[in-house]
Amino acid sequence: MEQNAQQAQQEKLMEHDGQPSKHTSSRRSFMRKGLVVGGAGTIGAGLLAGGLSLPAFAEERSGGLTQGDVDILRFLAAVEIIESDLWQQYNELGGIQDSEVPGGSGSKAYTTKLQVLDGDMSQYIHDNTEDEFSHMRFLNAYLASKGAEQVNLDKFRTLPSSKATGAQQIRRLTNLMQLTVDTSWWTRYRSRTQNPDLGGTFAQAIPGLSKGQFPAIPRNNGDLAPDAHIQAIASTAGFHFGFIEQGGSSLYPTLAQGVTSLEVLRILLSIGPTETSHFQTWHDKAGNAPALTDPTNGLVFPDLNASGGEDTQTNLIMPEPTIFLSRKFPPVSIIRPTQIAGSGGAVATIKAFTDDGLFIGQLPEFFAVLNELAVRADEARRG
Ligand SMILES: [Fe+2]
Repeated sequence: MEQNAQQAQQEKLMEHDGQPSKHTSSRRSFMRKGLVVGGAGTIGAGLLAGGLSLPAFAEERSGGLTQGDVDILRFLAAVEIIESDLWQQYNELGGIQDSEVPGGSGSKAYTTKLQVLDGDMSQYIHDNTEDEFSHMRFLNAYLASKGAEQVNLDKFRTLPSSKATGAQQIRRLTNLMQLTVDTSWWTRYRSRTQNPDLGGTFAQAIPGLSKGQFPAIPRNNGDLAPDAHIQAIASTAGFHFGFIEQGGSSLYPTLAQGVTSLEVLRILLSIGPTETSHFQTWHDKAGNAPALTDPTNGLVFPDLNASGGEDTQTNLIMPEPTIFLSRKFPPVSIIRPTQIAGSGGAVATIKAFTDDGLFIGQLPEFFAVLNELAVRADEARRG
C-alpha cells in the first residue's frame, strides 16, 4: 500500500516535470565531465529521463526549500532506502522479526554466532533496522510535504535473497553476500595524529576483509557449518555494521554544512547523531569477534589486542582526540571526516558502498541515478 502510494505521488509529481532549465543543463554538463564511481562508468546525458529526475518546479524553491536543501534531502532519502534494504536482510536472519520489523523467520545458527558478539545483538539489529525505515519514511514524507519529489528505488530491487532458511524470497537493492569490508574506520577513530580531512590514511583492523569477497549473511544452509565458517560470517556482519553506520555518522554532519533552511538543518542534526549512536554500539560489539580463521576461505580475524597498541585495542570505542581543521589547534574528539564534499560526502559515500560490494549485480542505471543524486547533494551550499 505504502509503495503504491509513493508511486502514485511520484507519477503525479512527474506530470509537472517540464523542460530542464539552464541551471539543470549546467549541472548535467558538470556531471558529464567525468564522474566515475566504482563500476558505474561515466555519468552521461539522459540521466534525467528516468523516473527519479528532479522536477523543474523544484529548480528554484520547493515549498520554501532551496534547490540545495531538496538535493540534500533526496540523497539522504536514497541512502536511507539503501540502508533499510540491507538492514532488513540482516533482521530477517539475525534480528527479531515482529510487527515493528516484519519479514523473515530467523536463522538459529547465524543468530547464535551473532550473539557471541553480544547477547543482545538480535535486539540491536532489529532496532537499527526500524530506525533506518523510520528515517526513510520521514525524509520522503517531509519532501512530499514541501512539494518536492520523493525518492523511490523500487525498480532497482532486482538482486536475489539469501537462500538460507529464514530469509524472505524477495528481490533486493543490496547484496550482502560478496562484501569487501573496509575496516579502516577502526584505526581512524583511534588515531590521535591523523584525520582523513587532513590527508590521513589508516590501516585495516581486519586486513583479510578488505581483500576478496565474503558473505555477511549465510548464502544458503550450506553456510551454517562448520562452526568457524558461520562465526566468520557473523563476525563479518559485525564489522560491516560498524562500516555502514560510521558512514552515516560522517555523511549527516558533512551535508549539514550545505543546508540553508533551519528546519532542514534541524532534521539533519536530529537524524545524524542516531547514526552515530548505532556506530558506537557496533564499534563496541565488533571488538568481541573471536580470533579465528575461516577454514573454507582462509579469512582471518586476528586478536586485535595482541599487539598491545592503541590502534587496535578493542575497548577504545570512544573517539580518540585528533587533529581538526589545522594542526595548530589542540587535538579534539570529533566525528571524522566532515569536510564538505570530502571523503565523508555524498559521492564518497556511494563510492564506499560500491567498493564494499553492496551493489554487485546492480544495473548501470542504478549507479547513474545514485551518482546524480550524490553529485547534486555535494554541490549544495548554504543560500
Ligand atoms: Fe539512517
